[in-house]
Amino acid sequence: MKPRKDVGTLDVLNRKAVENAFGVEALDWARPVERGRFWAPEQLISMYYLPSYAKLSPEEKRRCNQLYAMGICEQIIWLEENFLVKTLRRVLKRADVPAPLRTALDTFIDEEIKHTEMFWRTLEKAEPTWYKRREFRVYLVPRATRMLVNAVLSLPKLFIAWIWVAIFFEERTVDYCRNYLKARKEDPAGIDESFTEVQEFHFKDEIRHFQLDQHLLTWLYDPQPAWKRRLAGKMFTALMRGYVYPKNIPGGVMAMLGEEFPRLRTEIIPAMRSELIGLGTSRDFHDLAFSRGSVPKAMALFAEYPELDGLWPMFLAVTKEEFQA
Ligand SMILES: [Fe+2]
Ligand SMILES: [Fe+2]
Repeated sequence: MKPRKDVGTLDVLNRKAVENAFGVEALDWARPVERGRFWAPEQLISMYYLPSYAKLSPEEKRRCNQLYAMGICEQIIWLEENFLVKTLRRVLKRADVPAPLRTALDTFIDEEIKHTEMFWRTLEKAEPTWYKRREFRVYLVPRATRMLVNAVLSLPKLFIAWIWVAIFFEERTVDYCRNYLKARKEDPAGIDESFTEVQEFHFKDEIRHFQLDQHLLTWLYDPQPAWKRRLAGKMFTALMRGYVYPKNIPGGVMAMLGEEFPRLRTEIIPAMRSELIGLGTSRDFHDLAFSRGSVPKAMALFAEYPELDGLWPMFLAVTKEEFQA
């Protein structure tokens, strides 16, 4: 098993988990969400990079941004519940999980459950009438995809691509938080504070989770036979294609925007829908989401594993060679 740079030992990670522990009540739930502000840094939302975004009025842009920020919260809930909590519970049924790793993963699961609670409460605060049943309103994953994902994740020892999903999205999540904190520093009155705060608290745990994912890579993924890793590479590449060419959050946001601003239904939303495919080849969008600036460690890990070579032709802002140098 390869030792990994920049990754704390399990003992250190377990100690930090105790030292930095916080509960949901640490966040200020009494502070109202400000509807006159953006809820996410403008350049963090993929729709900002669509040419027709410029045609929205300031009020429409703000609402687009708010809906997108809610979509980000919903997506995080979906990923953490499905790819992390359910999967890790299954992994922990194995008898051979080393004790420090078991402790770390038990904490990891508790923290992800806490995170989903934090994000649901933020959503409820933002749109109190929408989330009475805690169902997604913006991040609309097609039913067939949900069924496929559930089936695949029910066998986490056979289909090990979920480890790559965890690695990529947990580093991406850390980058979301950095973007929020940078925006707050630049303009404390810019982005709504509740959305910034939930990301800030999420960051406190995720920075550790990202290191734990790499322990999982070493312990669970690396010893697997080549055929299983090749299968994981293919599955992860297919999944990433869905993020390089995003549809779910923008689709949900456009549907909601059309309901709230009927003038957009005739030209601007259809134009945005047709522009969506172009995001996958937009250098600005790649700089945001798939770059050395946003996910450097995930990219460096991808470069170590030849079964992930199918990813590189999709990426515009990075090459495999630069991470191998
Ligand atoms: Fe989380
Ligand atoms: Fe996490």
